[in-house]
Amino acid sequence: MTAAIVARVNSHNDIQNLAKYSPAPVINALCDKYHPLQTIADLQTIQEHFSEVKGLNLAWVGDANNVINDLATGCAKLGINVSLAVPKSVNVDKDIFGHVADLTKESGSSLKVTNTPSEALKNADIVVTDTWVSMGEESEKAEKLKKFAGFQITSDLLKSSGTSPDYVFMHCLPRHPEEVADDVFYSERHSLVFPEAQHRLHAAMAALEWLA
Ligand code: NVA
Repeated sequence: MTAAIVARVNSHNDIQNLAKYSPAPVINALCDKYHPLQTIADLQTIQEHFSEVKGLNLAWVGDANNVINDLATGCAKLGINVSLAVPKSVNVDKDIFGHVADLTKESGSSLKVTNTPSEALKNADIVVTDTWVSMGEESEKAEKLKKFAGFQITSDLLKSSGTSPDYVFMHCLPRHPEEVADDVFYSERHSLVFPEAQHRLHAAMAALEWLA
């Protein structure tokens, strides 16, 4: 009865079960592990802004889950260097980032993981973050806010870290002020968050057109 299923779920197992039993294509519209449509929209946003993407430096400052798992994979495929700053108590997914490291070898890009935001931000052309409290983690809010102390992206942090003066800022939304200050999020010169949000529509349409 349907040409495709677009599913937003908590556990990645739910996507796998849908894909196993559904004769129609299943598109992952976010799970705890992946967010592929966001990556398509993000890469479209980066390509539209910079034209040539190979060799750009993308810095991620925040949590290590669905959004960055796919974004790092997409960047590594296209030759965009990725630097990740996550708190000490946050581990990146070994399998996913092992795969990202393999992809960087093929594309000639680099992957760096640090616990220090300023290290990841040095020379960044693209600065990206996400909420610190993902869907399903609401009960861990107080603990996560503590864990991410010092990870808020501010103009001062970007300046003192040596981020490119022409950096762009991106965020998958919804945004909370704790992860990024207003002057960065709403910066007319630097922020691409609203074109990025608009590209989500085109990313979803493209995936449906391709698969369904
Ligand atoms: N990491 C976030 C992404 C929201 C689009 C979450 O899973 O809630």
